[in-house]
Amino acid sequence: MADQEIQPARNLSGAVRPPGDKSLSHRCALLGALAEGDSVLENFATGADCQSSLACMAALGAAVERDPATGKVTVHGVGLHGLRAPAGQLDAGNSGSTLRMLSGILAAQPFPTAIGGDASLQRRPMRRILTPLREMGARIQAADGDRPPLSFAGTDAPLRAMDYTLPVASAQVKSAILFAGLYAQGTTVVGEPLTTRDHSEILLRHMGAPIHRRRGTPARIEIEGPVEKLSPLGDFRIPGDPSSAAFFLCAAAAFAEGDILVSDVSLNPTRSALLDVLARMGAKAEIVSVADQAGELAGTLHLASHGKKLTGTTIAGEEAVALIDEVPILAVLATATRDGIDFQDVGELRVKESDRIATIAANLAAMGARCDVRPDGLFVPGQQRLHGARLPSHHDHRIAMAFAVAALLAEGPSVIGDAECAAISFPEFYTNLERLAER
Ligand code: S3P
Repeated sequence: MADQEIQPARNLSGAVRPPGDKSLSHRCALLGALAEGDSVLENFATGADCQSSLACMAALGAAVERDPATGKVTVHGVGLHGLRAPAGQLDAGNSGSTLRMLSGILAAQPFPTAIGGDASLQRRPMRRILTPLREMGARIQAADGDRPPLSFAGTDAPLRAMDYTLPVASAQVKSAILFAGLYAQGTTVVGEPLTTRDHSEILLRHMGAPIHRRRGTPARIEIEGPVEKLSPLGDFRIPGDPSSAAFFLCAAAAFAEGDILVSDVSLNPTRSALLDVLARMGAKAEIVSVADQAGELAGTLHLASHGKKLTGTTIAGEEAVALIDEVPILAVLATATRDGIDFQDVGELRVKESDRIATIAANLAAMGARCDVRPDGLFVPGQQRLHGARLPSHHDHRIAMAFAVAALLAEGPSVIGDAECAAISFPEFYTNLERLAER
């Protein structure tokens, strides 16, 4: 697998447009296939993960077309009851989102299916979806009781609605239950003690599903099933991915004269906690423009360091949930702060594409930096010099990209091992990084 050498930089500045949001693209692919009519998706995520979602829906009978000139993806929806049995096992690749969210749909189909993925995905825990979906009446088998591939027996009776409070804060699990709830008899309720990203709810409402969020402790999301039909998305523009933009915002914040303009990025409040954390540490991104696109906020951000040294902070609880995908790059940024960053309540990192607490710690150590690791957290002290090193990505896209940014901050060249795994979410990452790095 290809290595990527990265030279140190003296600054990072310029403008970047992140690829279409990964979370929203997955949901548009899945729900677009269940709609009655066509969804024409502009700025659909270019990463391999979302292509896995499209390929799965195509294998289930929803034709997908890509316009090479515009990059637009058209999903020809077949209706809630129009999917058909695929020819073989569905392949979610590296994508936990595809496998977990699609499971909610597969659980309700009258035909049997199976879905698996690559070696990393086969290690990831699935009990979190198996328990609620089985409670709704789905018959599912998993390898070793808890791991992919999952086999769905197919149901001849409708699923049962249920009231379920999430034991793990997970938007993927919430979405799987809501998608199963489309087919269930009665009102399915998901209790959410900690807020997670809400793209599924926004899209379902936009597509005409009877879905409501009730405030309270926990907040409750209700969907009245069985839903008769979903309206297609029509022409739908997907804003840029804030978790991809995070690498450039943090890189700019790490340099004394860093300056970055990020255009067309999602500003959905459940995705923008990074901006609060950066502001708290002294790097305030200015919102240059903002607009509402079918219930999703999107706009342009500008962040300039102006010679300011970042302080440091603690990230815990609900904020840790909201920032979970940004921890690798924030851990790198922490080394450039005054007081460091303490990450609490981030045990979920242990079961992402790699054990991210371990892979962050190992790569920081390789660069000569210290960090204190706990079972569900880590503290990265500030004011640490990094030296260039060989940095394995552990086939984890966010580790590859976070340490490519670390390599800019280091003394001496670094090599990111198996660097092309960045293409899972951001194929254009290294080209953008090289374009913006000043040497
Ligand atoms: C995602 C939810 C999060 C996140 C993942 C994408 C989503 O995972 O880490 O990258 O699109 O719903 P969990 O649902 O496991 O928290």
